[in-house]
Amino acid sequence: MSDLKTWDYLRREAKDRLEAGGFVGGDQEAQWLVEEVSGMNSAELIASAKIFASVRATEQLNTLLERRLIGEPLQYVLGSWSFRGIDLMVDRRVLIPRPETETLVGLALIEAQRMELQPGEVVVDLGTGSGAIAIGLAAQLFEVAIWATDVDSRALEVARANVAARGRMSAGIQIVQGSWFDALPHELSGRVRLVVSNPPYIAEDEIPELPPEVIDYEPFSALVSGPTGSEHIETILLAAQDWLTDDGVVLIELDPRRAKKTHTYALSVGFAGAVIENDLTGQPRVLIARR
Ligand SMILES: C[S@@+](CC[C@H](N)C(=O)[O-])C[C@H]1O[C@@H](n2cnc3c(N)ncnc32)[C@H](O)[C@@H]1O
Repeated sequence: MSDLKTWDYLRREAKDRLEAGGFVGGDQEAQWLVEEVSGMNSAELIASAKIFASVRATEQLNTLLERRLIGEPLQYVLGSWSFRGIDLMVDRRVLIPRPETETLVGLALIEAQRMELQPGEVVVDLGTGSGAIAIGLAAQLFEVAIWATDVDSRALEVARANVAARGRMSAGIQIVQGSWFDALPHELSGRVRLVVSNPPYIAEDEIPELPPEVIDYEPFSALVSGPTGSEHIETILLAAQDWLTDDGVVLIELDPRRAKKTHTYALSVGFAGAVIENDLTGQPRVLIARR
């Protein structure tokens, strides 16, 4: 019995280990890790501060801490992360959903409202990864037909689990595998009203700029596009011409350094109403390509 530690002791010990390991915000991370192994929320943990944790929970916390201390992203260690207030399962098969993508979904929802999207109309999330975009859209767009695609079957396993976990809310989401629009059934050609995508957009020579937490853990094929960083975005914009309705719109997340170039490309392939919108940090981040 003497080896048992209270939840409060474990939390403080985890904080000290994280801070000694150079992790800024060790206090918050320790709290999340203890919540994860205890299955309690912060209020329950306060009430249980003086209660002894089980040996199993203590060992589990130690395992999670060791993973974090060697640099694994907190989101993978926890196994879940919040996207627009929705808890999504995440692991190394998928990119960790980012705040910039929350902005992308917010702009897509505004666009959907402007377009007066009707039940049964078609929306596509290209490169769905964890399913974040499709699920974020489904939470607000009732009875719209959302197609979520990815080329990577392992990413789609995670997307399927996340969609299933949302129950009825995500009943309108269909998951299909394939490269960009090739994943979709031909009958959807000319019927897609809205495309929302966060494709890989890092250029090969920018790889050295990526922090080890990103390049050592997140899927390479979710990050890097090719020599220019624009390859996938340009493929999607060009192919979209065959899939969109006459008033269809594409929203794509991009690298701020290539916003101007992407805007020019969108105009050149037929999106006369293309505009760039900023993210929450004021960086040009989303192309809204209207025809
Ligand atoms: C930047 S991640 C975005 C994941 C998720 N949509 C999000 O925003 O968090 C890009 C996704 O595109 C997928 N992808 C890469 N190449 C693709 C292709 N040719 N066709 C479809 N999906 C592709 C990757 O597997 C990855 O899941």
